[in-house]
Amino acid sequence: MPDAKPIYVLNGPNLNLLGTREPHIYGHITLAEIEQACAARAAQLGRTIVFRQSNIEGELVNWLQEAKDKAAAIVLNAGAYTHTSVALHDAIKAIGVPVIETHLSNPAAREEFRHVSLVGQAAKGVIAGFGATSYLLAVEAAALIAQESQT
Ligand code: DQA
Repeated sequence: MPDAKPIYVLNGPNLNLLGTREPHIYGHITLAEIEQACAARAAQLGRTIVFRQSNIEGELVNWLQEAKDKAAAIVLNAGAYTHTSVALHDAIKAIGVPVIETHLSNPAAREEFRHVSLVGQAAKGVIAGFGATSYLLAVEAAALIAQESQT
């Protein structure tokens, strides 16, 4: 598909610190390494990615809005905003592009405050708990969903 839209892979707060951040939970892989692996998996599936990270909630909202016309699907690891952000929830609902909520860890098996996901209540589905592999599974899901809807 030469005109296939890219998959947006959006990352929220503190994910820029991967590699050194609580490695017993998140592993030693860096966000740059995850980006490379996502790009490679997307290429195998005939897709490109747009990969970004921000610590700022509003910037993530802007990128979701940008993705409305530009992205085939969105892989979103909103970090802690997953559990708190009505703004991200509303943006996901507003754009009509399928969002795959993605996490390295499994929030359901962690502290109680991580059990609520406002992102998940608007997302198409959730992939969590597989470390960096969660991203690859999410890219794969995004590509398949996009293929089905021919975007
Ligand atoms: C996370 C899980 C969140 O609860 C946490 O706030 C993060 C990372 C994950 O990928 O496992 O920042 O999204």
